[in-house]
Amino acid sequence: MISTSKRLGAVAAALASVTALTVVLSPAASAAAPLRDLAAAKGRYFGNAMTAGDFNDSAYRALSAREAGVVTPGNEMKWDATEPNRGSFTFTRGDQVVAGAVAANQKVRGHTLVWHSQTPSWAQNLPAAELRSAMVNHINTVMGHYKGKVFAWDVVNEAFAEDGTRRQSFWQQKLGDGFIAEAFRAARAADPGVKLYYNDYNTDGIGAKSDGVYNLVKAFKQQGVPIDGVGFQAHMIVGQVPSSLRQNLQRFADLGVDVAITELDIRMKTPADSGKLAQQARDYAAVVDACLAVARCVGITTWGLSDNHSWIPGVFPGEGAALPFDGNLQPKPAYNAMSTAFGAGGPTTTTTTTTTTTTTTTTTNGPLPTGCSAAYRVTGQWQGGFQAEITVSAGAAAISGWAVSWTFADGQAVSSSWNAVLTAQGPSVTARNTSYNGAIAAGSSTTFGFVGTSTGRNSSPTLTCATT
Ligand code: XIL
Repeated sequence: MISTSKRLGAVAAALASVTALTVVLSPAASAAAPLRDLAAAKGRYFGNAMTAGDFNDSAYRALSAREAGVVTPGNEMKWDATEPNRGSFTFTRGDQVVAGAVAANQKVRGHTLVWHSQTPSWAQNLPAAELRSAMVNHINTVMGHYKGKVFAWDVVNEAFAEDGTRRQSFWQQKLGDGFIAEAFRAARAADPGVKLYYNDYNTDGIGAKSDGVYNLVKAFKQQGVPIDGVGFQAHMIVGQVPSSLRQNLQRFADLGVDVAITELDIRMKTPADSGKLAQQARDYAAVVDACLAVARCVGITTWGLSDNHSWIPGVFPGEGAALPFDGNLQPKPAYNAMSTAFGAGGPTTTTTTTTTTTTTTTTTNGPLPTGCSAAYRVTGQWQGGFQAEITVSAGAAAISGWAVSWTFADGQAVSSSWNAVLTAQGPSVTARNTSYNGAIAAGSSTTFGFVGTSTGRNSSPTLTCATT
């Protein structure tokens, strides 16, 4: 299916033919690698919350597929969604989120099992003993269903008050202080292979509330109560990222747990203006910097990805514009700042050998040919769209520039790309290196990718690689 060629003449002809009518594809988006790749290069993930309905917005879905390596269901795994009536479980919408994520090669963070909010009144009204068994049954059943499909669970959400004491929720009032430990023990038993998190908001900086959570985690570690991580929601306000964020993440990590930014958004009074957007960019970068500075900070998830898919305007009247993309899915200064903070623009050439099915024209045991070769891999596919990654490899000699060309056979089209500059004429596409990834050492490779549209068949094209 995948073949390579080093025939310069053929490529020169192909290049000449595209000059007549050239469409430049998403120059803004082709500038840097997606956040998911930049984060992965730093040993972190970048994710975003998606509701089941979000997957019906194909442009938004493609944006998430491109940028996010992790998806958290916005509502679909909460108690009111999964067990609306006692003992009767519905996983339809949660399964839709998982299926959408799998199609885009994204992992899923489970959210959330035990919370005072979005929990049906039948549960809230149970007497203590029955509430306890309903909690364990809920944990068993929901975690059992998603076993192997999620890598982490927010087991207990928002159990602390602002002053660092326990929130006086129905859980606390009926089951007492022990309910959090009981939930974590039940969760470990239900799925020993998944990471168990405590998750809360206004705990990002050092203060009374985060002290309360800190003492809980410390006690859990001393008592052997299973806990693997602490989630910091990070619903923040522009200009107010706590200066102790890094220090706070670090002190939790030092207790022997992973930490993660789980629901990041940084809201402002609307309308946005350039000053607020610039401050927001600095704020987003500060959050990325803090996570990268803490070895056990495993990743960052934003609560939505673009300002038209945000919970903020509905809950904080007069506020919004809290996410890295605007309502037209265009990157905001915050996106560029995160990209830079994650290391965009740095060298992307790797020496990893790919396991894709590259075939070469070499038929003898002689040395590798010079020139370049390219391999095409579909990394995600969904209704109407797909994502692909192309690996460009240098042969026996280093190269200083490359152009990869192909022709789609099934009406596919590129909508946005990264790590290459793409031009298209009808079904024919040429991808040229950017300023930072043209040079590839002998035997090394680099990757670029794109999100495209497709209907029905989506065969992989034959690639031609030429040095430039
Ligand atoms: C929010 C959802 O985004 C909204 O759609 C829903 O109406 C309310 O909940 N902390 C959490 C998330 O842990 O589950 C919340 O999500 C936002 C605050």
